[in-house]
Order: sequence, then structure tokens, then C-alpha cells
Amino acid sequence: MGDLTGELKKLLALHGQSHVLRFFDSLDHEQKKRLADQVRSIDFELLDSLASEDSSEFVDFADIEPAEFIRLGACARNDERWRRAHEAGSDALAEGKVAAFVVAGGQGTRLGFDGPKGSYPIGPVSQRTLFEIHAEKVLAASRRYNRDIPLLVMTSSANDAQTRRFLEEKQFFGLPADCVRIFRQDEIPALDRHGKLLLERPDCIFMSPNGHGGSLKALWDSGTIRWLSSRGIEIISYFQVDNPLARVIDPAFIGFHIIEAAEVSLKLLERTMPDEKLGVWVRMNGRLRVIEYIDMPPEKMRERDDDGRLRFSGGSIAINCFSTSFVRRLNERGFQLPFHRASKKIPYIDEKGRRVEPEEPNGTKFETFVFDSLLFTESAIGVETTRRDEFSPVKNAAGADSPETSRRDMSRLYADWLRAAGVRLPVDDHGYPPFFIEISPLYADSAEVLRQVYDGPEEIAGQTVLR
Ligand code: UD1
Repeated sequence: MGDLTGELKKLLALHGQSHVLRFFDSLDHEQKKRLADQVRSIDFELLDSLASEDSSEFVDFADIEPAEFIRLGACARNDERWRRAHEAGSDALAEGKVAAFVVAGGQGTRLGFDGPKGSYPIGPVSQRTLFEIHAEKVLAASRRYNRDIPLLVMTSSANDAQTRRFLEEKQFFGLPADCVRIFRQDEIPALDRHGKLLLERPDCIFMSPNGHGGSLKALWDSGTIRWLSSRGIEIISYFQVDNPLARVIDPAFIGFHIIEAAEVSLKLLERTMPDEKLGVWVRMNGRLRVIEYIDMPPEKMRERDDDGRLRFSGGSIAINCFSTSFVRRLNERGFQLPFHRASKKIPYIDEKGRRVEPEEPNGTKFETFVFDSLLFTESAIGVETTRRDEFSPVKNAAGADSPETSRRDMSRLYADWLRAAGVRLPVDDHGYPPFFIEISPLYADSAEVLRQVYDGPEEIAGQTVLR
């Protein structure tokens, strides 16, 4: 261990981080090794540049315009353009060119759930977990197109082991084991106000996941891009674990991605409230971008056009298509999405070894955002969807975007499908039924499919689950 300490000491001293070894002599062999491995995994050059304020991306809001996107139109699903897209996407699925990809590395702090968010029981009646809902959608599509559709799952060190155990115990909810690929995203240390690393324990530096932008690097580092290419897969259908309404395999969306020869495609909602927590779809210096809501100038978020609609009308719901060739290029060039900073309260141990729970933010966490990949694309598109059809994330324990709102929104969507199939059921002015309704994706995963397979009563008067 003598040499090792010398090597570590030198490295840390060079970067002004010697305090990390403050408790080293009191550690046992295992702990020393752990800390040494952690130090070696850190990219100190990157950290030094992040510590200097001027490393942030310079964003010039002077030249920012609303960006155009493919609109739903009055009866979108029937219009010619959407029909062609649906066909192109269906062909790609039948040819086995698509994989589904769920990012599930977040820590779910706001939800306050002890476990991977994917194992949260969200089904309004059945208590199906988020992972189960997503996996069943993939399975339903695999059956429809008669092709295995792989499900890629990105975890982080905090939840990797638990996620693997959970999915294995549940036997991947019916997906073939060799079609599920689980891999971990990287971590990056936080820095305190003076640019110093924080110790979480005497043998452990505080680190956090590198943001969902890290998914595009993890796809490469884990060998998944090679694995996908060897199976002839060209398109990755990306979504977040927190949104049970996500159409994780959407032929029309995939079709637009193909027809428009896009490298990156994003699903967008029409923004209706200025303070909605959605990334905003813009054109900046001629390039398509998503700017996170907190980074947008508030006056731009409020601007309205002559019809009274918000001028910056597209909001990103983090459902994207990526071409595998694009992800490959992004990494072959040397992966370099910009890091965003977030001031956070980070518990640490002080120089006397006492644990401190700060009451005010004391440090900065760094994250990459997946939509910053737009900086490197040659072609990208936005495609409209609606909140009612596709977006009700589970983010908070209560209030907006909580399990309660999500269960209600799921019930409303399933009520919409049932009503479209001619079933009578009570709903309020906003379409919400007075009881929970749930439809397993294996029973029907869209209004069109439900219309064909529905074999239940003509009228529904109470809580219902179709599976
Ligand atoms: C995110 C988007 C926002 C979008 C909204 C839609 C950002 C910065 N903002 O907001 O533009 O409108 O979702 O719901 O992304 N995750 C990882 N690894 C990480 C961080 C996150 O896998 O390092 C995953 C989480 O598990 C989750 C998802 O990414 O599934 C979203 O993360 P979250 O931090 O909840 O994003 P939001 O701030 O809600």
C-alpha cells in the first residue's frame, strides 16, 4: 500500500485535493483499496475545468427563436403524413431495427421512495410497477411485430444491484432474458464552494450520477452499441422510467425519425403554462436545441403570439429516438456533452470526522443532459404529442406530478380508449372517471388495439382492470 499512497498523494496534491487522504492511515485494507480505486476513476483534468467558473457553456439568449415541429393537426392519426410515418415505423419494427431504452439511474429523491423508481407500484388498480408497465409495452410490441425488441435499462451505482435483483426476480416481466441489457452510468464527484472534493465517509468521496446525458456514453462504454449493431438495430427509442404513459414503442414517431433522416428526434407537447417544468424546444443561432426551463429567461417563457399562445410552444417530455450511428459518432469523437451545475445540500464529514448535514447548499453537482446531444447532430426533428396521451410523470411524493396525479391520468387515458371503443362510462368535464381504470399493455396498448380486442361489458360503472 506504501507505493499506492505515494502515487495517490502525488495525484491529489497536483490537483489541490490532498485532504481526501486525511483519514487514510486509519482505514483498513479494504477501505484503502476502495478509496484508491475511487480516486483513480476520477477525471481530474475535467474536474479542474469544472471548478473554474468559466468552463460553463456560454449561452447567448439574444439569438433564440421558437423552433418548428411536426404538428398533430386536427385528426393527426388519420392524415396522410402520419399514416406514412406509421407505416415506415411499423416496417422498421417488423425488420427488428428498434430497441427500447429506459433511463433509470436517477435517485428519485423528490419521490422519497426507498428503492429504484422503476419498482414503484403505480398501476391504479393492480399496483403494477413502472418497470412492469414499460416491459409489458415492449413485450406487446414484440408480439405484434413478431420480432424481439430488446429493452435496455440504464442504472447508476446507487441502484444498479437492486434494479438487477428486482428485474431478475420478476423474470423480466416475460421478456427473454437475453433481450434485456442492464448497464450503469458513470458518476462524477461534487465540489464544495472552494472547488474541493467532499468526503461522504472516511473511505468514500461523494459522487453522483453524471446526468441522463451520460446514457449516451454508457451505451458505448458498456458495449451496447456494438451489441445493437450486431443485431441490425439502428434506432434506440429512449424514455424516462418515471412516465407510465410513455408510448415506449411508437411506430409513427419512429417512422418520422426514419423519413426525415433524423439522428435525434424528440417528442414535444404544446406548452400551455409559462412555468411548466419542461425543457423548451428552440432554435439558437440556427441550431435546434432544448433549453431547460430553469435556464430560459423568464420573459421568453411568458412571450405570447397574436393568438395568445405561448410563442415558445414546444416542451420536451424526454421521449426521444436516437440513431445508433449517431451515438457511435458522438463517442468516437470523444464524448463531450457540456456539464450543467446544480447547487445542492451535500452531507459530508468534516476535518474531525464529524458528519455535517448542511442547511444551505454547500456544493455543486454536475450533470449532462441528453438533449444537449442536439449540439452535435446534423439533423433533428420534433414531433408533437399530447399530455393526455403520453405524459404524466411520477416525480414528487404529493401534489403535481405525483403517484396520485399519474394514477388519475392513467385512468383518464384508459377511459378515453374505452369510450372510443363504444363503452359507456361516467367521466367529468375533463374526462376523468370517478374510479380507477387500468388496462394492461398486454391486453391493449392503444385505443386502436382496444377497439379490436375489447370483449368486456358495454357499460363500466366501477373500478376496472383489463389484463
Ligand atoms: C426532465 C428534463 C425536462 C423534461 C422532464 C420531463 C432534465 C434536466 N430535464 O426533468 O427537460 O421536460 O424531465 O419529465 O433532464 N436520470 C438518470 N440519470 C441521471 C439523472 C436522471 O437516469 O443522472 C433519469 C431519471 O431516472 C429519470 C429521468 O432521467 O427517469 C429524469 O430525471 P429528473 O431528474 O427527474 O428530470 P427532471 O428534472 O424532472
